[in-house]
Amino acid sequence: MSFPYTEEMMESVKKVEATRAARMAAEPRRMTAEEKDALLEQYHPDYNLSSFAEIIVGPNKGEKAPKELVELLQAKSRVQGMTLDLAHPDYDVDVLVIGGGGSGASAAIEAHEAGANVMIVTKLRIGDANTMMAEGGIQAADKENDSPAQHYLDVMGGGHFANVPELVEKLVMDGPDCIKWLNDLGVLFDKDKDGNMITTHGGGTSRKRMHAAADYSGAEIMRVLRDEVQNRKIPVVDFTSAIEIIKDTEGKAAGAVLQNMETGEILIARAKCVIIATGGAGRLHYQGFPTSNHYGATADGLVLAYRAGARLLYQDTLQYHPTGVAFPSQIYGALVTEKVRSMGAQFVNVNGEAFMHPLETRDVAASGVIREVSRGNGVHTPLRDGIWLDSPMIDAIHGEGTLEKRLPGMLRMYLRYDIDMRKVPIVIYPTLHYQNGGVRVSVNGMSDVENLYVAGEAAGGVHGRNRLMGNSLLDVIVFGRNAGQEAGKQFKNVTLSDLTLEHVD
Ligand code: FUM
Repeated sequence: MSFPYTEEMMESVKKVEATRAARMAAEPRRMTAEEKDALLEQYHPDYNLSSFAEIIVGPNKGEKAPKELVELLQAKSRVQGMTLDLAHPDYDVDVLVIGGGGSGASAAIEAHEAGANVMIVTKLRIGDANTMMAEGGIQAADKENDSPAQHYLDVMGGGHFANVPELVEKLVMDGPDCIKWLNDLGVLFDKDKDGNMITTHGGGTSRKRMHAAADYSGAEIMRVLRDEVQNRKIPVVDFTSAIEIIKDTEGKAAGAVLQNMETGEILIARAKCVIIATGGAGRLHYQGFPTSNHYGATADGLVLAYRAGARLLYQDTLQYHPTGVAFPSQIYGALVTEKVRSMGAQFVNVNGEAFMHPLETRDVAASGVIREVSRGNGVHTPLRDGIWLDSPMIDAIHGEGTLEKRLPGMLRMYLRYDIDMRKVPIVIYPTLHYQNGGVRVSVNGMSDVENLYVAGEAAGGVHGRNRLMGNSLLDVIVFGRNAGQEAGKQFKNVTLSDLTLEHVD
């Protein structure tokens, strides 16, 4: 394979190189609140009303959601017309966890710790999830110059103050303990020679509180959680999808209808408590965006919970990560971690100009990139025009070898296509990354349906209308554990009456 940048791209690279020293010497300007509001309104995809539709049935009737999601929420049930023997379930457990990612595994571990007979069901395999793909890190205010209060303010500001305060409080207060829990379980966080955690900034953070394992933080966390699930011998039913929540005749969640993805076989799971931990919806490719998400991210949890009667919150707000790969086409939409910008790389247009602070919050940064391209200042590539991310700045700022040490996954991803990001900038454009909203939950993780818990990306409210980097991994651990602990107490009080699927009709 030969170096893939075209002559036109290389002409532009020369301009990026020519301005690098001056850009490094100057302090990038932050936008004012008014500038951000105007930018979001004009360029953020959430404001593109034509891609949303009104929900016409269920608890969120009259509200808007992405068209693709509305279609799923309101689709006919797969169980319609089936004769199901709900009285003789195939599985009978205390706690059923739906989803095998970070929040599902954390929930299962804690429910098991509480003495529950717990089972995980996942439509792929345990660990096939967005957690595994998380790169940049996990926030927690555990350094001397930081505090959960400071973290709280950052989360609220990033979320445009639409966040549910009690959920944010839980997130930031439990953060330091979750890092300790993960560290004790065996997660290999980056540490200095004295054993102190190395932490960096993310977009919208006022303190360096991003803990990482190089740029494969989620894979490292998932490795350890999966081991813990297996060590505890928690049963995992894989390649099996939950297709409807079952309730009992008193309206409590009481299990799920499952479908084996390979054989099509329908199975019934009865459970005293159900935890939905199915992640996000990037694979619905809202507005035709590429996505950084795992193949399993298809809004399953939102649909399951909604059809059981749970309300959604902020289902109309999505996160477009500012730095998805725009070139090469083979990895179009893949994530370029925000850590690249945390370590100094700037957004630079085709003329070599830095047009925005690299660490604005994600919604603002993504909108800034979209605006710059729409103004004709993008770098031309076969699939779409994008913006340079000036990655050679990292070694220029921190010394040779830094990028290789701190961002080995990124370096390897590009080297496969003969692009050495230590030497040349890379081309990015926003990619669909996260659903900011989800199923509404109270601080104990329960949805509007009794004994139906929701954790991680499937739940909404923690992040308001925009999440900050590193608060997703924290969310899956804090609220996954929380749901497991709460269900681990609750199941002891539950007596189920007859099972029913009447709510589906
Ligand atoms: O950019 C990233 O590494 C993504 C992190 C996140 O979504 O929290």
